[in-house]
Amino acid sequence: MIIAIDGPAAAGKGTLAKRLAKHFNFSYLDTGALYRAVALTMLRAKHNPSDIALAAQVSAHLDLDILSDPDLRREETGQAASQVAAIPEVRANLLNFQRQFASRPPEDKAGAVLDGRDIGTVVCPTAAVKIFVTASAEERAKRRFHEQKERVGHADYDEILADVVSRDDRDMNRSDAPLKPAENAHLLDTTKLDIDAVFDVAVKLVQSAQ
Ligand code: CDP
Ligand code: CDP
Repeated sequence: MIIAIDGPAAAGKGTLAKRLAKHFNFSYLDTGALYRAVALTMLRAKHNPSDIALAAQVSAHLDLDILSDPDLRREETGQAASQVAAIPEVRANLLNFQRQFASRPPEDKAGAVLDGRDIGTVVCPTAAVKIFVTASAEERAKRRFHEQKERVGHADYDEILADVVSRDDRDMNRSDAPLKPAENAHLLDTTKLDIDAVFDVAVKLVQSAQ
């Protein structure tokens, strides 16, 4: 069984996906981390993240060790990730890995949960359950603000809000695999829902598809 979780930045995709994976004993893939890994490799090499040829090359030979680098979570990396993610060659290079992860979970796992932007539309269009999580930009910026404050001790709400809005805008308006709900996705607005409430709704959706 495959569960696809999509949505804009800081909507709560990762939190929900990880919890579902634990609850149902599924494997979990944070597909945004792959785009962030390409972006961070580009930034470290002082490449322009929009350079098609270089981004294509980096994504074709991605060193997965960088997935554990703390700089992966920085908003600067997120912005560059959304630049490399607009390049079709990069998306094509990362697609196989994601599909294989989804279709071949380890033997001890009952299925896979993937979160990202195009899981329900492109990576796993036949997923048994598709959930599109949203929340207002202000609420999402507030969540990132608290997260960043805890992680590095300081954060600027207005800057975070502007970053979230510009990243969503780029993700929604690219021509290849734009951020949008799949036709048969369940829309879940989490603006006024806490993590437990979101999890309860999602568990019921998965159970009714089992
Ligand atoms: O993966 P994504 O960027 O969509 O979001 P996340 O990393 O799962 O969640 C961003 C932050 O919002 C985390 O600190 C979560 O604890 C928090 N969150 C929340 O406060 N309420 C929710 N309903 C979901 C997430
Ligand atoms: O955690 P957050 O929601 O802030 O971002 P992320 O899931 O780590 O994704 C970072 C960026 O990678 C996004 O802004 C997208 O541009 C890109 N991405 C994508 O295009 N397709 C995916 N399946 C996942 C991420």
